[in-house]
Amino acid sequence: MKSDRGTGATPKASTTISTLLSKPVVLTGDRTTGPLHLGHYVGSLKTRLKLQDETEQYLLLADIQALTDNIGRHREVSENVIEVAIDYLAVGIDPNKSTIFIQSQVPELAELSMLLLNLVTVARLERNPTIKEEIRFRGFERDIPAGFLIYPVSQAADIAAFKATIVPVGEDQLPMIEQTNELVRSFNASVNQDVLVECKALLSSVGRLPGIDGKTKMSKSMDNAIRLGAEPDEIRKAVNRMYTDSRHLRVEDPGQVEGNVVFSLLDAFEPDTQRLAELKHHYQSGGLADSTLKRLLEERLQALLEPIRLRRQRLAMDRGEVMAVLKRGTERARNKAAATVAEVKRALGLAYFV
Ligand code: TRP
Repeated sequence: MKSDRGTGATPKASTTISTLLSKPVVLTGDRTTGPLHLGHYVGSLKTRLKLQDETEQYLLLADIQALTDNIGRHREVSENVIEVAIDYLAVGIDPNKSTIFIQSQVPELAELSMLLLNLVTVARLERNPTIKEEIRFRGFERDIPAGFLIYPVSQAADIAAFKATIVPVGEDQLPMIEQTNELVRSFNASVNQDVLVECKALLSSVGRLPGIDGKTKMSKSMDNAIRLGAEPDEIRKAVNRMYTDSRHLRVEDPGQVEGNVVFSLLDAFEPDTQRLAELKHHYQSGGLADSTLKRLLEERLQALLEPIRLRRQRLAMDRGEVMAVLKRGTERARNKAAATVAEVKRALGLAYFV
């Protein structure tokens, strides 16, 4: 019955002109645990750059979510809000097109989370595959902070408060989207009205970038990432340290392309696909040195990151202006979220004074 929902406006009996004319709403965000890196660039920033011209896009600096497993590092979490914002602006996110905002300054999101929590069981929260994996990775086991266990509900509130229909995320976030839609359906069913809107995940075509050590994921906490603001010698050292093929000892030996980080990154950053295919073939048949490939990759990365680094440096000198951008964005975002939460409360009979 509700299966034709997805991108675009909700089909209702009474469609208004503004719904017909409105652009799809996009919401996505990042935990503010540290500056962003190349994995974020290919995984989501590039998508956001494209979407900001065609949609109404909200970008969330998820400081509250970051605290759910970093309460001991709360200073770092709050200090990184501006770092991540600078990363956004440095790659070309335009605050006149995208609304960048700070989660902790929109209290309506916490309010909506509190209401949605009544629609999920502890058992369901414990079954979320991403939560399970993160509990194992962080060694929480029996000592899971309650806030951490329920962060998928908080994330659902982030999305639902904006009635976002498109959520660009990495594959590891798919269980969050699924849980969001369960909560949306369950809320609408319990008030017998279509107040909240279901969303769709938008995955990047490139997929996740491996770490420079060859581990499956590039991640700051695993210390295997290249920051967007990396200095030239940092980029060079990272490329030199990159995992290739441990059995490719001599240049003449045939080398392996799968699992080779240099090739994974060239797949993401070498625009000449024909040339890349030839290089792969040459490497597999032997005679192509790791160092030759690494110089090519380094050249690509230096060219990509130089303008970003320069813009970052300029923005870092004008922190007042960056904070003003965040303040304006947060006001705009708060208006939108507050309108939805008012609707939610009305539907629940919680609008006593209006
Ligand atoms: N959990 C997301 C991540 O770790 C970040 C995030 C927070 C998010 N709130 C969101 C993503 C809302 C999409 C929508 O990458």
